[in-house]
Amino acid sequence: MDLPWPPRSADDAWALLEAQRGMSDGEAVDIWTHQVQTADALRQEGADDEMVVAGLLHDIGDGRVSPAAHGPWGGALVRDLLGERVAWLIATHTEAKRYACTTDPAYWDGLSPVSRRTLEAQGGRMSAAEAERFRSHRWFPDAMRMRRCDDAGKDPDAPPADTAPLRQALRRVAGAELQRRRSAGASAPADRPAFSDRRR
Ligand SMILES: [Fe+2]
Ligand SMILES: [Fe+2]
Repeated sequence: MDLPWPPRSADDAWALLEAQRGMSDGEAVDIWTHQVQTADALRQEGADDEMVVAGLLHDIGDGRVSPAAHGPWGGALVRDLLGERVAWLIATHTEAKRYACTTDPAYWDGLSPVSRRTLEAQGGRMSAAEAERFRSHRWFPDAMRMRRCDDAGKDPDAPPADTAPLRQALRRVAGAELQRRRSAGASAPADRPAFSDRRR
């Protein structure tokens, strides 16, 4: 199947997510289910649309690029379409894991074996300076909130989540970013040159 690289609409982003059905990174659920569970948990606890969408697409690079690169790669992939905050949350979701492992000794015990294994490749524990820099970011609380749902979204026994509200949130965020770009005079994603990196 020819996938829409880069995604230029909410439907494109949804197609990239759909293509991760059945893709495994070794967790108990496939990458599609994991992202849907993460987003659904955020939605159920009342997180805003951008956070829900970040949860929905945070592992869009998983199974396509290396575990170390999948966060930043995914953030860069959706920045034009979904805006800075969603891109940042996706790009730093492994940083949130590094931060939690650094500052909370009990956190490591709760991590899945796959998450533990990939931590080293993702930079391992943070230095004090790195942790301070991450903590002082304005979206740090959002990153840690998303991480909690990310870690919990690996339940093979959970009933299938309703994906309709997640897709609607994706459309709203893409629509709002398009609106923002238009009023700022920036080009819409569809006007931009094709993304040359087609790594899967
Ligand atoms: Fe991830
Ligand atoms: Fe994840």
